Amino acid sequence: MVDYDEIIKLSLERGFYFPSSEIYSDAPAGFWEYGPNGVGIKNRFMELWRKELVRKDGMIEIDGSQIMSKNVFKASGHLNNFSDPVIMCSKCNHTLRADKYINEKIGSDITEGVTNEEIDIMIKRYDLLCPKCMSKFNSSEKFNMMFKVEIGPNKEEAYLRPETCQTIFVDFSRLFKIFRGKLPFAIAQVGKSFRNEISPRQSLLRLREFYQAEIEIFCNPNHLDKLSKFEELNGTNLIIEIDSQVYELSAEEAVKKNIVPNKLIAYYLCLLTLFYEKTGINMKKTRFRKLKDNEKAFYASIALDFEVHTSLGWLELVACNYRSDYDLKQHSLLSKKNMEVIDPENQEKILPHVFELSLGIDRSIYAILEHSFFFDDQNKRRVLGLKPYLSPITVGVLPLTKNQEFESISKKIYKELIRNFDVYYDASGSIGRRYRRLEEIGVPYAITIDHTSLIDNTVTIRDRDTMKQDRILIEKIKPFLNENLDF
Ligand code: GLY
Repeated sequence: MVDYDEIIKLSLERGFYFPSSEIYSDAPAGFWEYGPNGVGIKNRFMELWRKELVRKDGMIEIDGSQIMSKNVFKASGHLNNFSDPVIMCSKCNHTLRADKYINEKIGSDITEGVTNEEIDIMIKRYDLLCPKCMSKFNSSEKFNMMFKVEIGPNKEEAYLRPETCQTIFVDFSRLFKIFRGKLPFAIAQVGKSFRNEISPRQSLLRLREFYQAEIEIFCNPNHLDKLSKFEELNGTNLIIEIDSQVYELSAEEAVKKNIVPNKLIAYYLCLLTLFYEKTGINMKKTRFRKLKDNEKAFYASIALDFEVHTSLGWLELVACNYRSDYDLKQHSLLSKKNMEVIDPENQEKILPHVFELSLGIDRSIYAILEHSFFFDDQNKRRVLGLKPYLSPITVGVLPLTKNQEFESISKKIYKELIRNFDVYYDASGSIGRRYRRLEEIGVPYAITIDHTSLIDNTVTIRDRDTMKQDRILIEKIKPFLNENLDF
C-alpha cells in the first residue's frame, strides 16, 4: 500500500510540493510551496471543480481580499470563538494542542469542542507530562487561531481571513442585486485562508496558509424541499455515516428516510459526490460523516464532513455546513445594513440561510496523489495513475535516440503541441528511463519518434497505464489528445 512517506518522497523528488523558506533555520512550520507539477495538478483540479460544480450549477465566482477588517471577524464570531485549547509546559514552555495530545496519549477520541476544564481534569487523571522535559503542564488555555495584521502607519487592526467565505457574506447584498439573484443563489470562491495552527503537521494536511474552494448557497429556509433540479441527481449514490452507522443509498432515499434533512442539502451532496468521482479518488473509501453537536463549528447547525480514507486514516476534505442565517444576521447587526432580500419565486422577504461546501484544496490534492499512486511490481514501475485531465503534463515527446533526424521531427511536434497542451520534451537517457520519469509524474501519454517516423510520418503513442503503444499519424496526435482529455 502507498503510504504518506511515499507521497512525500514523490512530492519532494518530483517537485509537487516542498517546505517554504527551507534554506533558513527559522523556516516556520505549516507553510509549503507548490512546485511546477503541483501547480499543474492544482490548476487542473480547480478547472474540474469549476466545470462540475460552478458551471454545472450556474454559480457565480468571486475573488475577494485576504485581509479583512476587524469588524468582519467581530461579527462573524471568529474573534471570540475561533480558538483551540493549548497546554504549555510549566518548565520549558513547550506548547501543544491539548485535545490532540490527549487523544494521542490515551487513545480516546475527545472531540474538538472539549472545554478547558475537561482538559485539565484529563491531564491530571492520566498524569500527562510534557513530552520534552517530563514536567507538569500549566492550566490549559484557549488560543485564537487568526493572524492579526497592522494596516498603514496607524497600525489599524485587521486580520487574514481564516475562511474565504467571509468575503462572500460581506459582498452578498451587492452580488444578489447585480446578478438579479433568485434563491437558491450560489457564490463560489477559490483563495487562500490563514490559520495560526498550534501544531501544523503532515505537509499539506494541516497548514497555516492554505487554499480553500468554498461555495456558499443562499437559500430560502421555508422552501428547502422545493428544488426541481434535485430530480436530475436524486439517483446518485451517497455514503453517509451517522452515529457510527453507515448508510449507502440513493439521494432520493436519503431524503425520504430523513438521513439527509432536505432536498437542497441532498442535491449539493450529489454534485460534490459526482465531482469527486472524477478526481480518481476511490469513492468506496469516502463518506459523508454527520458531526455530533460538540464537533461542529460554532456557526454550523448541521454539519456533514466529506471524508476520504487514506494511509493516515480518515481525512476531512470538505466541510458541508448548514450555517442557517448566522452569518448574514451577524453582519447585518454590526454593519447596520439590512441584508434581507425578496425571494422572487415565493414573493417572500427573508434573510437567506446558507448551506456551504467548504473544500480543502491542498488535502484533496494529497488524497488524489495517494489514491492514484501505485507500484507496478511486475514491471518495476512507480506510476502516478492520474486521470489524464488532472495530470500536470499531458504528453511526453521523446526521440528514440539522439539521431538528428529524430530530434528534428520531435522538436517540430513539440513546438506544434506546446501551443495547446502541457508537453515535456526529453531526449536524454535510455527510452525506458524516460518512460519511468514520465510515469512518476502522471504523464498519461508518451510519443516516440523512431525510424518508421522518417518513412511514413507516424509516431508511437504509449499509454501510461497499459504500456500499450499504437502507431498514429503525426497529424492525428492533436485530435487524439483532445479526445482523451475530455472530462
Ligand atoms: N467555511 C468553513 C470552513 O472554513 O471550515
